[in-house]
Amino acid sequence: MIPLSLPHISGNEWQYVKECLDTNWVSSAGKFVSQFEEMVAAKAGCKYGVACTNGTLGLHLAMHALGIGKGDQVLVPNITFAATANAVCYTGASPIFVDIDPRTWQMDLGLVHRLSHTQALDAIKAIVPVHVLGNVGDLSGWLNWARENDLVVIEDAAESLGSYYRDQHTGSFGRAGVFSFNGNKIITTGGGGVIVTDDEELARRMKHLSTQAKVNPETYDHDEIGFNYRLVNILAAVGVAQMELLDQFVEKKKYIDGYYRQHLQGVGDIRFQEVPPEVNPNCWLFTFRTSKQEAVLKALKEHQIIARPFWRPMNQLPMFKNNVYLTEEDYSRVIHEECLSIPSSVGISEEELEKVVKVVKGVF
Ligand SMILES: Cc1ncc(COP(=O)(O)O)c(C=O)c1O
Repeated sequence: MIPLSLPHISGNEWQYVKECLDTNWVSSAGKFVSQFEEMVAAKAGCKYGVACTNGTLGLHLAMHALGIGKGDQVLVPNITFAATANAVCYTGASPIFVDIDPRTWQMDLGLVHRLSHTQALDAIKAIVPVHVLGNVGDLSGWLNWARENDLVVIEDAAESLGSYYRDQHTGSFGRAGVFSFNGNKIITTGGGGVIVTDDEELARRMKHLSTQAKVNPETYDHDEIGFNYRLVNILAAVGVAQMELLDQFVEKKKYIDGYYRQHLQGVGDIRFQEVPPEVNPNCWLFTFRTSKQEAVLKALKEHQIIARPFWRPMNQLPMFKNNVYLTEEDYSRVIHEECLSIPSSVGISEEELEKVVKVVKGVF
């Protein structure tokens, strides 16, 4: 079996976890939590990092702390993992879905410009650009539009640790950016998230809210309704060890991306995701487009190669079917029907890459 995107535990993970176990620092406090927060913030070029249970709750925490709530609307791409839209809903706000650019597969700003006179967009409070697959869309356009319209920008950078836009790391452009350390991400803590920001007060408040808004640990005083969204020291220890390996992992991901592009270029009607020149992506998970998606998925499955179609568009999910969806051509539908992700684990071997390419080519 060739898996899709496995963790790669190959550094100091055992040593750091053992240190937690040996010293009894296994829970929500401990040196690895702050070290992990500092390492992720430093990588993103931000002043502060707030570790949390996972990326989904990181998005919720950031939105909640930034005052997004009932009655607000939040722009979200129609092609994303459901977590982005779910987190908006946790705050009581509702997501407005924006169709994507069929070249980059990122939220299309042009649609908002063209459709803003036909749609009531007055209640929009925030935008959540998602850096889908570690690529980045028209981020500067979105940031300008947000500034002109006084909107909060929270980046869903769950997939983009190691990706840069105009030489600046993703996650550092909005008021807050959220990284995921789920098992399939470029590095992992098993499950985890870090919110990055340059805003000291926001960082302090998010940390406070993530620890049940506890004012004084000795007296059980709490000053508002908080959450238990902390990341435990054992998992942060894994995160520190994985952060030490990140640059190496990005290099391997770029190699995998280059390999697939070279060997699948010109095969049948295969097309690749376009990466704008201002983006230096982490190449997290190789995904391509073909009208033979179903046949390719079937062939890969027969050879025990794990592949996945792209996410079902948000407007097609039952809980979001009545939400506003800004679109002209519904490119999301086509991208969902035609795109598939293929094995991209850091640990993938040359023989495995060759086998994947051979099976894909065999379909055309
Ligand atoms: C785009 C996107 N947003 C949010 C998340 C949620 O992150 P987590 O799984 O850590 O909750 C993920 C990944 O899982 C994701 O890919």
